[in-house]
Amino acid sequence: MSHNISHIGYILTVCRDNAWLYISATFAVLWIAAWLYRDSLEIEDVSNKYVFVSGCDSGFGNLLCKKLERKGFHVLAGCLTEKGAEELKKMTGPYLKTVLLDVTSQDSIQKAMEWTKKEVGDSGLWGIVNNAGRSLPMGPTEWMKVEDFHSTLKVNMNGVIGMTVTFLPLVKKARGRVVNVASVLGRVAANGGGYCISKFAVESFSDCLRRDINYFGVNVCIIEPGFFKTAVTNLEPIERELHRLWNQLSPEVQASYGDKYLDKYIRIQRFIMNAICDSDLTKVTGCMEHALTAVYPRTRYSAGWDAKLLWIPLSYMPSCVVDIGLKLVLPRPSKSV
Ligand SMILES: NC(=O)c1ccc[n+]([C@@H]2O[C@H](COP(=O)([O-])OP(=O)(O)OC[C@H]3O[C@@H](n4cnc5c(N)ncnc54)[C@H](OP(=O)(O)O)[C@@H]3O)[C@@H](O)[C@H]2O)c1
Repeated sequence: MSHNISHIGYILTVCRDNAWLYISATFAVLWIAAWLYRDSLEIEDVSNKYVFVSGCDSGFGNLLCKKLERKGFHVLAGCLTEKGAEELKKMTGPYLKTVLLDVTSQDSIQKAMEWTKKEVGDSGLWGIVNNAGRSLPMGPTEWMKVEDFHSTLKVNMNGVIGMTVTFLPLVKKARGRVVNVASVLGRVAANGGGYCISKFAVESFSDCLRRDINYFGVNVCIIEPGFFKTAVTNLEPIERELHRLWNQLSPEVQASYGDKYLDKYIRIQRFIMNAICDSDLTKVTGCMEHALTAVYPRTRYSAGWDAKLLWIPLSYMPSCVVDIGLKLVLPRPSKSV
C-alpha cells in the first residue's frame, strides 16, 4: 500500500515538474491541427471564376492550365508563340482560351488585358499567375555584358511588374489573387546574370504589393520553386550560352580564369543540375493551385525537396555560409589570389 502511494506521489511530482512541457506540447499539436484545417479549406464555385496564366507554351504554366481547366476554372492562357497556343488548345477543352502574349511588350500586355476584360465581363479576374520567365544567360557575373542582364530582367522583372499593374483593376474587381512565380534563386543569389536579380525583384515587388493591396481583399502569393526539369534548366542552351559568354571575353579576362575553367564549370554545373532537378512538376503546380483555390492562401510556397531542405534554410543563414559553400563547390580561377 505504502509502495503504491509513493509511486503515485512520484508520478504527480513528474507531472507537476513537466506541466509546462505538456501544456506546450498540447498547444503545439492543437495549433498544427488548426493550421492544417484552415489550410485545407477550399473556395467554392470555381466554374464562375477566370484565371489568366502567362508563359503557357511549356513547363509549369502549360501544366497549370490543363489542371485548372480540369478543375472547372475558365482558363485564359497567355502563350508566347502560335505553335504553343495551338498545341495547348489541342490538349484542352472549351473552357480554355489562348491569347498571344509577350510580356516584354507593354503593347502586347495591354492587348491581352483588353481581351481578358471582354472575356471576364462583370466577374472580374479571379487570378493572374505571372509565370512567364527565362533564365539565360547565367554564369559568372564578370562574363556578362549589360545587355545580358537586361534580356532576363525584361521578361522576369519588368514583365511581372507590367502584367500585374495592367491587370490589377480586373483582379481588384473580383477580390482575387496575384500569384507571382519567383524562385529559390530569389532567396539565395547563387548564380551571376539577370536571373537571381530578377527573382529577388519579384519577391520584393510582391511583398510591397501584398501590403498595399490587402485592404481590398486581394491576396498576393509568391511561388518559390527549387530546381525542376523544364526548358529553364535544360543544360544544352545553358552550356551554349556559357560558351558564348566565354567567347566574348577579352584574352586578359580569359587568362585570369585559365583555359580549363570553362570545362570545369560546365562539368560541375552538369553534375549539380542532374542531381537536384526534379521531374515532378506537379509539386509546383500544386502550390499554384492552392494559391488560387484555398480560402486562406499562403504568402509563400516553396516547392521541391531542395527548396525546403537546402535553399530556404540557407536563405536564413549568414552570407558567409553561402559564400563558403559556393567557393567549395565551384572551380577556382587560375589567377585567383
Ligand atoms: N524550372 C525551374 O527549375 C524553375 C525554378 C524556379 C522558378 N522557375 C520559374 O518558373 C517559371 C516557368 O518556367 P518553367 O520552368 O516552366 O520553364 P519554361 O518551360 O521555359 O516556361 C517559361 C515560359 O515562359 C515563356 N516566355 C519566355 N519569354 C516570354 C515572354 N517574353 N513573354 C511571354 N512568355 C514568355 C516561355 O515561352 P517559350 O517556351 O516559347 O520560350 C515558356 O513557355 C519561370 O518564371 C521560371 O523562372 C523555374
